[in-house]
Amino acid sequence: MDYIEIPEIASIIEKEIACNLSPKRYAHSRSTSETAVKLAERFGEDRWAAHLAGLSHDMCRGLSFEEQNNLVNKHRACIAFLSERPSLAAILSDREYREKMIHGPAAACSLCYRFQVREESILEAVALHSIADDAMSPLAKIVYIADKLEPLRNRSADADEKMQTLDLDSLFAYTLASVVRWFSESGKPLCPYTAEIYSRMTKS
Ligand SMILES: [Fe+2]
Ligand SMILES: [Fe+2]
Repeated sequence: MDYIEIPEIASIIEKEIACNLSPKRYAHSRSTSETAVKLAERFGEDRWAAHLAGLSHDMCRGLSFEEQNNLVNKHRACIAFLSERPSLAAILSDREYREKMIHGPAAACSLCYRFQVREESILEAVALHSIADDAMSPLAKIVYIADKLEPLRNRSADADEKMQTLDLDSLFAYTLASVVRWFSESGKPLCPYTAEIYSRMTKS
């Protein structure tokens, strides 16, 4: 496929996810995109990149684990620039977390091989959206935040105010703290790598 522009790719993906994802996940994807665009405007990042990354971050959730896994194995070169990142290694090295989080790297590979998206900040934002990483680019932080704090999520009453007032790093730390709290309240296991970042952040 020839290179096509980001708004056009986003429009194709929006139609695809309307069919391939559950109505709830489709609504979440749109809401993540809208929230990411608002944050991108606030923090001076590219709004179209935020739109595309927000819309596509869960695009592979309709595939089976095997399909997601095969996609990443076949197109690993698309995310080779992330190979030194411990967050990606954490997703890929543990079977339990790989099953939960491989949809991010799979979506990044899909954007790259199907649509020739080569912008590393977009691929990074999509690949790492479920784990967090303290070396994330501003766009990747924005998409991580939008995924967790978009209005359809069960979030804290002060989430909107925080999104409008905190600087990006403080908002990222607030989001991470919210994630740690949700996992602790639900009794579900938090990915050890995410727990490690949170603990590093609270010490610094
Ligand atoms: Fe996700
Ligand atoms: Fe999501």
